[in-house]
Amino acid sequence: MKYVVANWKMHAPALGEWVKTLTAQPIDDAVELVLCPPFTTLGAAQVMLASTAIGLGAQDCHAQLSGAHTGDISAEMLKKAGCHYVIIGHSERREQHGETNAQVRAKAQAAQAQGLIPIICVGESLEEREMNAQEEIVSRQLTESLPVTGDMIVAYEPVWAIGTGRCASHEEIAAMHRFIKKKLDDSHPVLYGGSVKAGNAADILALEGVDGVLVGSASLNADELTQIVRAAH
Ligand code: PGA
Repeated sequence: MKYVVANWKMHAPALGEWVKTLTAQPIDDAVELVLCPPFTTLGAAQVMLASTAIGLGAQDCHAQLSGAHTGDISAEMLKKAGCHYVIIGHSERREQHGETNAQVRAKAQAAQAQGLIPIICVGESLEEREMNAQEEIVSRQLTESLPVTGDMIVAYEPVWAIGTGRCASHEEIAAMHRFIKKKLDDSHPVLYGGSVKAGNAADILALEGVDGVLVGSASLNADELTQIVRAAH
């Protein structure tokens, strides 16, 4: 099974057109395509994806079930909105919202408690890579931000490769996926994310230890994402 997870971030391309393009050809059973749009699009996406093979996910959730948390969304709400997945601890949340490993773990546990599969992001910064500290950083993120048990997906996203057009090399991806798989006893799917495009997806998806891709900017373009899904077949 290969995962293709579309992370729309804070973008909202025309949903109907996007779904129409992605469903124009049957999606192979061996591919799990998941759309993670902004919260305000989840309702419409739930309706539109119901009769398709495309799964639905969100981009974040709160660690608490409910309460005085203005602007936040609980995992239970996401479940009710038709989500099966939720991205947790994306580097943009870690950086821009100061999310710690402990908070990421609490959110991932909250997601699991509702039957959602958390897609937990890890990855080193450019500075850390230049110091050759990537394994140490990712190791700590795995130890401190993953729930101890339960279903989950890990996404390796080197921060320097996100939205920069500078994809990690095949060697860098393969080495880190090997490292993560070993650390987790090969118990969870591990995705790669960071400047995945139609042009490089097939080669990345063919690497040993790569169970799928987390796609940001290229997922906004339905034609390009269709090519990535095809590459995953
Ligand atoms: P990108 O983003 O594909 O635009 O690099 C990936 C991500 O942040 O998940």
